[in-house]
Amino acid sequence: MEFSESVTKENLARAFAAECQAGARYQFMAKDAKQNGFNYIATILKQLAKNEMAHAKTFYEYVINNLKSKNGNVNIDAGYPFKQSELGTSLAESAQIEEYEATNIYPSFAKVAKDEGFLDIYKSFLLVADVEKIHAQKLSSLAQMFSKKALYKSAEAKQFVCSNCGHSENKKAAWNTCPLCGYPQGYVVIDLQQ
Ligand SMILES: [Fe+2]
Ligand SMILES: [Fe+2]
Repeated sequence: MEFSESVTKENLARAFAAECQAGARYQFMAKDAKQNGFNYIATILKQLAKNEMAHAKTFYEYVINNLKSKNGNVNIDAGYPFKQSELGTSLAESAQIEEYEATNIYPSFAKVAKDEGFLDIYKSFLLVADVEKIHAQKLSSLAQMFSKKALYKSAEAKQFVCSNCGHSENKKAAWNTCPLCGYPQGYVVIDLQQ
């Protein structure tokens, strides 16, 4: 199958666009989180944004490297979310989008790539799907903790750590202000391992 004639070319362009807008969305959310005092959530979101830009680059380079013509315009038609939500809702909505990418969109793009004979692209779609699955899990547990106001407390005593200075304490609730560096609660590390 000639790449320029393939559905995979269009799927790569869709995936590139999706990853770029996810990266942008996470950066906007990070800013929102920081403005509302959730500094560590902002750190998590910036890391996710970085991952999405790396995915975008992978897809972008596949198109660049496989298109023979120098005029590499690819026209696509796809729906992307434009929603204005509070941080907690945005986290939950993003988790759903990630889950859908991981279990539906990228596996189906992978299958098409395999059927069209692009095995390296097939593998990349599956590898990205694996990462999006982890993103979905992280965002979902963050959204749940956020909605339950359980970011800085725990039923059982646990280790809370300040992401600024490393101060840690084993207790059921984190400090309002770090006793070592004076940074506020928003810098407490949020453990997303379930
Ligand atoms: Fe991604
Ligand atoms: Fe993601």
